[in-house]
Amino acid sequence: MGQPSLLWPDADDVPEPAAPVLLGILASGNGSNFAAIAQAIRAGELKAEIAVVITNNPDAYVRQRAEQLGIPCILLNHREYTQREALDAAIIEVLKQYRVEWVIMAGWMRLVTEVLIAAYPGRILNLHPSLLPSFKGLHAVEQALEYGVKITGCTVHLVTLEMDSGPIVAQAAVPVLPDDTVESLYQRIQAQEHRLYPQAIRLCIAPPEGSRLPKPTGNRHN
Ligand code: GAR
Repeated sequence: MGQPSLLWPDADDVPEPAAPVLLGILASGNGSNFAAIAQAIRAGELKAEIAVVITNNPDAYVRQRAEQLGIPCILLNHREYTQREALDAAIIEVLKQYRVEWVIMAGWMRLVTEVLIAAYPGRILNLHPSLLPSFKGLHAVEQALEYGVKITGCTVHLVTLEMDSGPIVAQAAVPVLPDDTVESLYQRIQAQEHRLYPQAIRLCIAPPEGSRLPKPTGNRHN
């Protein structure tokens, strides 16, 4: 018998959507997960297109990554908005302009409001570097090491108003080794994130019959 899969249903069993689904990536930093999603699309593993990247951080390395890949990257500096709702409204404007269907948070370090959630009901995904519901919030890898868990990992979930708490789509487990540092453990978690996130997106944009994933609502282009 083969090894049990950590991901159900297996992404290989998932039907492809008829047309590439337009993704909008929200990223505040390095953008390695953005790059992994772009790579999965190029490799034909994910029938989608990254229509736009939005960042809130002028210094985010994701800006350079997007430029190298020829994908538009829009800077919406959160410091220029006095209220979270106003930032979310500006984000929505860009997402609609690029006809984005699914919003993919990849290292997006801002709390979202009901404004964004209402614009993309059930169609916003987030990635978190722990096995939720453990170690929500900032410094999840440090939290896991400090707590002394022997297994941690990463989680892809649908975004709700409560931080790191929406329905779980997929998880990957990563063992904590006795001599792990935050850096060494995070490196192995990131390797799993890069594998998991494209698969989880694939599951969501074309959910297989019988899956317990929530069905998206609204029109493809709202
Ligand atoms: C990822 O490890 C992701 O799990 C984490 O930010 C990193 C972004 O990496 N997200 C959170 O902590 C959200 N709570 P990347 O910029 O290299 O893709």
